[in-house]
Amino acid sequence: MSKKHKTTITQLKKMKQTSDKIVALTAYDASFARILDGEGIDIILIGDSLGMVIQGHETTIPVSVDDLVYHCKAVAKASQSALLMADLPFMSYTSPDKALHNAARLMQEGGAQMVKLEGGSQQIETVRQLALHGVPVCAHLGLTPQYVHKLGGYRVQGREAQVGLQMLEDAVALQDAGADAVLLECVPVTLASEITMNLDVPTIGIGAGGSCDGQVLVLQDLLGITPNAPRFSKNFMADSNSIADAVNRYIKDVKSGEFPAEQHCFL
Ligand code: KIV
Repeated sequence: MSKKHKTTITQLKKMKQTSDKIVALTAYDASFARILDGEGIDIILIGDSLGMVIQGHETTIPVSVDDLVYHCKAVAKASQSALLMADLPFMSYTSPDKALHNAARLMQEGGAQMVKLEGGSQQIETVRQLALHGVPVCAHLGLTPQYVHKLGGYRVQGREAQVGLQMLEDAVALQDAGADAVLLECVPVTLASEITMNLDVPTIGIGAGGSCDGQVLVLQDLLGITPNAPRFSKNFMADSNSIADAVNRYIKDVKSGEFPAEQHCFL
């Protein structure tokens, strides 16, 4: 069922305080955005995962700011209540000025209300600049797909005590610099839980366990049409008779704490 009011970052913070789980999904076009918005999703992420699920690349690296603006525009036309978060793609935020320029494009041309960028302490100045200029920011930690070649593949991040501690410190520093949310991808449940407890801003998890303040999935994974979908995702179409029904079940399962289950998490 559709929500009446636009989700805001103030509301996301309140949802953390009241333990009302935040539910997010990716979308890249108007048709799917209309369904997600109609079912009352809190956040639509126009993610650079579009490089894989829409453009057929093996990574997110070829995605450009123009691509993001194009897909963001389409999503914005069909969504009324969901907060639109758009990714700053690879190499589009190598300096605070460049990040400001490209975030402005995503917001002014694309219609986004928040941008997401990957990386820890190296992004503190960029996040500070964006926040100072009125750009809501989500910081993406853990498995950061734009760093795939540096990380040596798509794998769980933060299992070693030192790496986990650094991630926790980075999350706090990014919040202090002005980040309004932190996305945790493929992070052990205990670490994600510790980060969530130590932040005032909400955490949104993907493969990071049920104690995050919210969850996000790639829409095509939820619809069961991604070949070899990651273990942390779930095919909600399997027990549904329509796309809207699958989205609705996902929202209900996140809100009730049924998703993610143990098999979707990492230790
Ligand atoms: O681009 C994307 O869809 C993402 C999700 C995997 C969180 O960043």
